[in-house]
Amino acid sequence: MIQKIKETAEYLKSRMPALPRVVIVLGTGLGGLVDDLKIELEIPYKEIPNFPISTVKGHKGSLIFGKLNNVDVVVQNGRFHFYEGYDLKIVTFPMRVFKAMGINIVLLSNAAGSVNPEIGCGSLMMITDHINFFCDNPLMGPNYEELGPRFPDMGETYSLRLRNIAKETAAQLCIPLKEGIYLGSRGPTFETPAEYRMFHRLGADAVGMSTVPEAIIAHHGGMETFAISIITDEGFEGKVKKASHEVVLAKAAEAGPKMTKLIYAMLPKI
Ligand code: HPA
Repeated sequence: MIQKIKETAEYLKSRMPALPRVVIVLGTGLGGLVDDLKIELEIPYKEIPNFPISTVKGHKGSLIFGKLNNVDVVVQNGRFHFYEGYDLKIVTFPMRVFKAMGINIVLLSNAAGSVNPEIGCGSLMMITDHINFFCDNPLMGPNYEELGPRFPDMGETYSLRLRNIAKETAAQLCIPLKEGIYLGSRGPTFETPAEYRMFHRLGADAVGMSTVPEAIIAHHGGMETFAISIITDEGFEGKVKKASHEVVLAKAAEAGPKMTKLIYAMLPKI
């Protein structure tokens, strides 16, 4: 694995226009961010040695290097999910590569269903902590000390510094920003009403099928991590709305510009 990470990182370093300060991972329907990006180089996954290929409708498959609000970034446009059948080590392979390239800050985005009636559809929710309900962990198996510790502390998986910048920026832009706990589940089924209720009672505010594995690996590697959800559906106790991939895509597209604006404005401050 170490060999593959190094090989892929070397390949990308040999092609990248500049070392990105930040990697941004785009979730479902959040591709709008790319419109604001001054693109310098786009590399399809199929050209990148050792990279997996994503299989979901609405998910793209390329790394885009460029400037966003004058900050060098790389955008992972299309991520890999456990429900596609990938091992969590494959799902998180790109994150290992970003770290090996020398990138130390990651912004993750996703679409999620809310289980907290105070966080309605269309809200932006900054992730303050997570519950790993994948019943798996990308760190299973031998640990390579050069990548991070065997037993990583998870007390501040989501950087307080970046969260404070997000709060301050959202206030300046008058963008309402909720905060909450994201529960990562395997999918690909949306939750039953009983599952939404259970997740809320377990302490979650929102549930989705990504982000947790990547956040674990980023944190394990010592990267500063920030994550934000667009709430695309509601699983409130007694009032579960029917969820579908189409609804998720439509709602994410609707609320996406708010998230894009926030990330754009945050970048020069980080
Ligand atoms: N559950 C799981 N994943 C999701 C949801 C949901 O309600 N909405 C968007 N991704």
